[in-house]
Amino acid sequence: MADKKAQLIIEGNAPVELPVLTGTVGPDVIDVRSLTATGRFTFDPGFMSTASCESKITYIDGDQGILLHRGYPIEQLAEQSDYLETCYLLLNGELPSKEEKAQFVSTIKNHTMVHEQLKTFFNGFRRDAHPMAIMCGVVGALSAFYHDSLDINNPQHREVSAMRLVAKMPTIAAMTYKYSMGQPMMYPRNDLNYAENFLHMMFNTPCEIKPISPVLAKAMDKIFILHADHEQNASTSTVRLAGSSGANPFACIAAGIAALWGPAHGGANEAVLAMLDEIGDVSNIDKFIAKAKDKNDPFKLMGFGHRVYKNRDPRATVMKQTCDEVLGELGITNDPQLELAMRLEEIALTDPYFKERNLYPNVDFYSGIILKAIGIPTSMFTVIFALARTVGWISHWKEMLSGPYKIGRPRQLYTGYEQRDLPANRD
Ligand code: SDX
Repeated sequence: MADKKAQLIIEGNAPVELPVLTGTVGPDVIDVRSLTATGRFTFDPGFMSTASCESKITYIDGDQGILLHRGYPIEQLAEQSDYLETCYLLLNGELPSKEEKAQFVSTIKNHTMVHEQLKTFFNGFRRDAHPMAIMCGVVGALSAFYHDSLDINNPQHREVSAMRLVAKMPTIAAMTYKYSMGQPMMYPRNDLNYAENFLHMMFNTPCEIKPISPVLAKAMDKIFILHADHEQNASTSTVRLAGSSGANPFACIAAGIAALWGPAHGGANEAVLAMLDEIGDVSNIDKFIAKAKDKNDPFKLMGFGHRVYKNRDPRATVMKQTCDEVLGELGITNDPQLELAMRLEEIALTDPYFKERNLYPNVDFYSGIILKAIGIPTSMFTVIFALARTVGWISHWKEMLSGPYKIGRPRQLYTGYEQRDLPANRD
């Protein structure tokens, strides 16, 4: 960390010197921890200008549209790696050797089953419950089954919990889908790779075990990679905040799932398909672009814009390429929603409102079209995002707990009543 300084001059007070810290790459940060001595706080609703922690996991350059996981560009990982190798990288900081990869894959494979009693949790939900509501409940309930790995101060327990969560999320996600369909839940198979196994548990039934298309499995694996981690986004920050109180890892991940569900965050992929359905036809695009620009209209162009990216989201670029591959492989030549999405992107990107605000398609804009082509229902899109992001959440949770940390407890600017007394002789 550098010895640069910043000076804060508050009228009538001596200047306050604040250290300026420099990372490996990216913007410097002003360390305001000593500010409490002045009896003042920083004020930054939405954390637009706040770095909440130091991290070595993921780096985003929003202006250049760069996304690195432990230094490796997302484009290279999506093209040359696979999801479990990317999981190992995020969790451990380095790519695995052949032996380490084989051991990691074997560990994950041997933890994909869930406790048989977990099935009974599903029966408490209506069949038409939103799958994300079920995921919040069932994942949070996992802590009731794994008392042997809840000591968050024990590195071995943290490791076991991380493996269990990465291994079991696809099983639970598929169980959620099967429950909504009224079909029997499928057990995982150890002879399939991670993405194949997920598609097997989603789409096969005890009556018929069809082979999994390698193209669809590869596309699924790539979608998992593209959603694996993204620095201190809302759901990851939620996991860190929950973890800072000492909550068990399953509760922290359930909190992350809840935060991801919002349409401004991971719920956007589902909202993009609903928006495309609402637009319906290219002839309506201008009307919806106008709605998106109208400050009095809450409508936003779903799948567009990003807090950090003020250039193209590199994941959206890879996602669009994958879209073309999957639709091509499936012989879907003129998918109306893809045509509409491409036209919408074209028009929006020429519109001054979007250009001035650097609003580009984000990871959610094209992902739904691929997921739909694979046969996944819209209501499951955010569940897939949560499945894939679990490794990112748990990597940040592990990183925070492996060093000194404090419980997250922001302050506020209070603008309510000053002290006052209750009226005398009340009835
Ligand atoms: C994800 O943080 C992450 O890393 C998240 C994520 C991850 O991997 O974890 O990348 C995943 O959540 C991607 C984002 C998915 N959400 C959407 O696609 C929903 C639509 N997008 C917007 O809601 C919005 O762009 C956000 C929430 C993504 C970002 O919002 P910000 O950073 O708070 O920006 P803002 O709302 O202040 O927007 C700045 C301006 C505003 O206009 P002005 O007040 O300057 O006039 O841009 C406008 C906004 O009204 N704007 C949009 C818009 N997004 C921003 N206008 C129309 N349509 C949009 N989509």
